[in-house]
Amino acid sequence: MILLDQVTKLYRGDSHPALDHVSLHIEPNEFVFLVGQSGAGKSTLIKMITKEEFPDSGKIIVGGIDLDYVKKRYIPHYRRRLGVVFQDYKLLPGRTVFENVAFALEIAGMSNREINKTVPKVLELVGLLDKAKKFPQHLSGGEQQRVSIARSIARQPKILIADEPTGNLDKLTRGEIIDLLKKINDFGTTLLVTTHDENIVNNLQKRVVTLKDGKIVADQKVHGIYRLDGTGRVTESMQTPTRRIIRTTELGKRPMTPVSVARNQAVAAPVQVARPVAADSGTSVANSAAMPRRRSAKPATTPVNARDPRRYRSRRVI
Ligand SMILES: Nc1ncnc2c1ncn2[C@@H]1O[C@H](COP(=O)(O)OP(=O)(O)OP(=O)(O)O)[C@@H](O)[C@H]1O
Ligand SMILES: [Mg+2]
Repeated sequence: MILLDQVTKLYRGDSHPALDHVSLHIEPNEFVFLVGQSGAGKSTLIKMITKEEFPDSGKIIVGGIDLDYVKKRYIPHYRRRLGVVFQDYKLLPGRTVFENVAFALEIAGMSNREINKTVPKVLELVGLLDKAKKFPQHLSGGEQQRVSIARSIARQPKILIADEPTGNLDKLTRGEIIDLLKKINDFGTTLLVTTHDENIVNNLQKRVVTLKDGKIVADQKVHGIYRLDGTGRVTESMQTPTRRIIRTTELGKRPMTPVSVARNQAVAAPVQVARPVAADSGTSVANSAAMPRRRSAKPATTPVNARDPRRYRSRRVI
């Protein structure tokens, strides 16, 4: 669904690349958290996918579209295939909740009749049907983020990308927004979410990809926990017995001691492999048998072999 292969981005004037040979493969219907310290490159990675910024080298394929072939004038068309949610909501202040959601459908060319049918359904899904006539400035932060999410899912995108969607919210509201994102994922949408919120990541135990200094240093495909480095340091949350039991029994392994956890992490640390499908430092190939099967595991474009020049079956969709 989303494939980055050896993507490098160096901003003009910077001495260190914001992304340094990043390879990542996200399958359909996955829920992926992207974590890392401030400046690690999370937003840059998101901007590569939304084509707000362009890579210096590497290949990016999203939903079967090779982004090299998306010309500048077609970028808005491409973006309409994605749902994008930002920390600061980016709502239109002069329009009501209903109109904010309707606007996304108008520019996609939907008829008024269809819009009037679709918007109430989407607002109901995010729990805001009763606020349809309100203006954004009369809503709480959490409600504004719900409008933003409603707007981004109204066109039913296959991929939803959220850059720190809970960054401006209190703890309770953060949980509500994440529950909503989880619901959207359960309906079959692929989610990529950046966050600094350790609690949310640890509670959900989804796939967790860690960026550090522009490199992926950890990629825990199942039962991921919040960790900021891939050096083998045992984090606070990994030291708790419950966490150890969940991590070990569900992966079909013998319970690990803190020492073996540390050793496991140390071995798993280098994840910059050429084949993105195997870029999983959290589980070994042997463990992958214990991983749940996904509904449609085959992406539209499949890397076959890193050295095979025909490894991308890219299509000129737009
Ligand atoms: N437009 C830009 N021009 C130059 N350098 C940039 C630009 N945007 C980001 N950078 C640099 O790229 C690096 C990665 O930035 P990025 O915004 O991707 O980090 P981040 O992980 O999203 O951080 P945060 O958690 O604070 O949002 C940083 O060193 C930053 O200074
Ligand atoms: Mg950021």
